[in-house]
Parts: sequence; C-alpha cells; structure tokens
Amino acid sequence: MADINANGHIFGGWVLSQMDIAGGIVAGRIAQGPVATVAIEGMTFITPILLGDIVSVYAHEERRGRTSVAIRIDVVATRGIKEEQIELTSGLFTFVALNENHRPRPLPLPLPLPFPGD
Ligand SMILES: CC(C)(COP(=O)(O)OP(=O)(O)OC[C@H]1O[C@@H](n2cnc3c(N)ncnc32)[C@H](O)[C@@H]1OP(=O)(O)O)[C@@H](O)C(=O)NCCC(=O)NCCS
Repeated sequence: MADINANGHIFGGWVLSQMDIAGGIVAGRIAQGPVATVAIEGMTFITPILLGDIVSVYAHEERRGRTSVAIRIDVVATRGIKEEQIELTSGLFTFVALNENHRPRPLPLPLPLPFPGD
C-alpha cells in the first residue's frame, strides 16, 4: 500500500519509475551497454491508476542521435471485468549510452536491413 495515496490512486512517481525501467531496457539493448536517463519531456497523467488495474508499459525507439536515443513510453491500464483499455500517460525519455567513465559513448551502428532474397 506504500504506492497508493489517500485518494486510492497510485503515486505518479511509481508510474515514472516503471517507465524509466522499461525505457532503460529498450535503450540498453540499442546501446548494447549501460545507459542513463538524461531527460524526460513534459508528461501528463491522463487518468488515475486504481487498485486492481493491470498496468502495461510499452516502450519503443522514436529518435536516435549520436550518443542518445529517445524512447516513447506509453502506459495503459486494463480495468475491470470488461478489460477496458485505458490510456494513462505517455512520455518521451532520452537515454545516453555511457562508457566506463560514465561519460557519453557513441551508439553502435544499427544492424543492416536484410538484403532482399536473403
Ligand atoms: C547523461 C550524461 C552523462 C550526459 O552528459 P552531458 O555532458 O550532458 O553530455 P552531452 O552534452 O555530450 O550530451 C549527450 C547526449 O545527450 C543529449 N542531451 C543532453 N541533455 C539533454 C536534454 N536535456 N534533453 C535531451 N537530450 C539531451 C545530447 O543531445 C547528446 O545527444 P547526441 O549525442 O545524441 O546528440 C550526464 O548528464 C549525466 O551523467 N547525467 C545524470 C544521469 C543520471 O544520473 N540519470 C538518472 C537520474 S536519477
């Protein structure tokens, strides 16, 4: 119950941390190594999360720079017996690939697309 406020809603900070974890997994795969969250674009919490909601966090690459990658993260609740899908929030998180000195490191080149007929 530590994650629920007096209104019976989940704390926004809990949601943010789930988004950071999901985005960090996707960014870490792209970077093939450690990453750090450098920025989160302004976010809106559209609907409160209620006890019993099943919360899903979806993360995908939106933009790639030299050392950074922007990951779009969408959070959706599945609610009630009818399994209604409710959009909770969305945010653009920027992660930076880090070297062993915790400084920015160039991202590895993306894998080439398969040649037609391969
Ligand atoms: C991440 C970190 C190593 C970047 O260092 P830096 O000196 O700002 O690095 P740079 O200025 O070279 O920027 C690195 C990349 O981040 C991007 N970046 C920096 N600040 C940004 C911001 N506010 N928004 C979006 N992108 C940003 C730059 O555009 C650059 O991307 P590119 O190489 O793809 O063009 C440093 O800021 C850091 O350690 N921050 C703390 C990270 C952390 O602890 N996160 C957890 C929070 S609790």
